[in-house]
Amino acid sequence: MNKVLLEKDGNVAIITINNPKALNALSTEVLEDLDAAVNDVKNDDDIYAVIVTGAGDKSFVAGADIAEMKDKNVEEAAKYGAFGNKVFREIETLNKPVIAAVNGFALGGGNELAMSCDIRLAADNAVFGQPEVGLGITPGFGGTQRLARLIPVGLAKEIIYTARNIKAPKALEIGLVNAVYPHEELMPAALKMAKGIAKNAPKAVAASKKAINDGLNETIDEGIQTEVEQFSGCFATEDQKYGMDCFLNKVKDKQFKNK
Ligand code: CAA
Repeated sequence: MNKVLLEKDGNVAIITINNPKALNALSTEVLEDLDAAVNDVKNDDDIYAVIVTGAGDKSFVAGADIAEMKDKNVEEAAKYGAFGNKVFREIETLNKPVIAAVNGFALGGGNELAMSCDIRLAADNAVFGQPEVGLGITPGFGGTQRLARLIPVGLAKEIIYTARNIKAPKALEIGLVNAVYPHEELMPAALKMAKGIAKNAPKAVAASKKAINDGLNETIDEGIQTEVEQFSGCFATEDQKYGMDCFLNKVKDKQFKNK
């Protein structure tokens, strides 16, 4: 893996897209390395939260790799689109929470990567958009689906049809990001949030993620049943007994074991 860096800081993993010459564009090689990093983190029981960011201070990810895509035929484009979608769906359904620290351009596949994360934090220089129709294509790594689920559908259609970029304050206003920070404060803020999440019972956080994600695609009654399953499943964990013991014995400094 050299197009994606993977660092571990205690219980937090930091995945950095590292293709700065092309503003971190997602070539197949980058996607393969991202896939490997996500799988590493998935299977590491000591990692409780993940941050995804881009190398450098200008770009999170400037999209799919236009130079690589230009001469693809229909079959090759379908393969590329399916692979990007597979990797992003792995992130969306990862058994740990993922924070996108959006440190600059998040265009096309970059915005789509950010949207496959659970939480988006942005630097004040971040720029979001789905410029694909200006290139003669649709969004191809989940943008038509996730943007319309994340923000009002009319706004999603406006952003995709106009190919217009939006700046960080507007992204905050429409709920595309949770918070905006001065550039140098973005990673400290993302790490603080990730470490705060990692202090809680990892299996309970993972179960909450699954209940929320699955429930969004279910009726309210099915979603409630999903919650009952996830809630009751926690009672098979050591961390549930420990967490409740800590409360009842007034222990403040908890150390969950992910068991
Ligand atoms: N793919 C390939 N190369 C890219 C790229 C991309 N998405 N984005 C930037 N680059 C390359 C540029 O070609 C340039 O390379 P050279 O130095 O070799 O010329 C280098 O990165 C720096 O880019 P710029 O000189 O353009 O930098 P800038 O500061 O003037 O502009 C930018 C920055 C506005 C982000 C501009 O680079 C840009 O518009 N990039 C393309 C954004 C885009 O259209 N993204 C969507 C791609 S399609 C997609 O993502 C489909 C999908 O959903 C799967």
